[in-house]
Amino acid sequence: MSKKFIAGNWKLNPDTGEQAIELCWQLKIALAPFVKVKIAVCPPSIVLPMIAEFFKGTNVAVGAQDIYWEDAGAFTGEISGPMIKSAGCSHVIIGHSERRQYFGETNQTVHKKINAALRHNLLPIVCVGETLEQRESSVMKDIVREQIVEALSGMQDILLGNLVIAYEPVWAIGTGKTATPEQAQEMHRFIRELLTENFSESLSETTPILYGGSVKADNAAELFSQPDIDGALVGGASLKADSFAAIVKSGEELS
Ligand code: 13P
Repeated sequence: MSKKFIAGNWKLNPDTGEQAIELCWQLKIALAPFVKVKIAVCPPSIVLPMIAEFFKGTNVAVGAQDIYWEDAGAFTGEISGPMIKSAGCSHVIIGHSERRQYFGETNQTVHKKINAALRHNLLPIVCVGETLEQRESSVMKDIVREQIVEALSGMQDILLGNLVIAYEPVWAIGTGKTATPEQAQEMHRFIRELLTENFSESLSETTPILYGGSVKADNAAELFSQPDIDGALVGGASLKADSFAAIVKSGEELS
């Protein structure tokens, strides 16, 4: 896979719609030169329609940070596939470790959410990754295997060309502690093999596997040079146009 994919996860930022639009203006200008990479931003749901409209017709796609598995009904506070689609989004992050940690997300809810995304023609960015404790007790591959196999179970045919995986070790998120390129590559290779063994060779070959966890301008190029790292899911550094553009530039140069 030669074309890198760089997505920004804004999480619960910024505070106001005005600040969000200001960031979009800066991003539009800073990202305009990059034509070889795929770029997406995933802002909070309240500003999605406005931001999707802003980036319409540009090189920047827009995604949601979560989706509910039902399309409508009595589910206070949730956002549905039809809503995300009609807001103008093309992507949706599913199973982020912060949702698993703080909001009770499980491999089973991730599975249902992937189905909902696919039903509405939204590209799911499915997040997996182990905690520090799990890495220290050397069960990280078992954890990631379980997250992927349970989340994708029974879906191999519809997933082809419709799946992005993000490997985000929990201990590297927001900590400034990035996985070394070797650690990340080893897990990405493992995920690739897992997809071949449990699903199909073609799913393994066509699914971009992004790395996430303290990706910054100064470590992006080294991560992107690894054979199985197809891009990044960027948190903190995606909230400043210059740092996000610098990461995208590294992706462009290796695409
Ligand atoms: P940071 O880049 O802030 O570590 O966050 C990574 C992440 O969680 C992206 O989804």
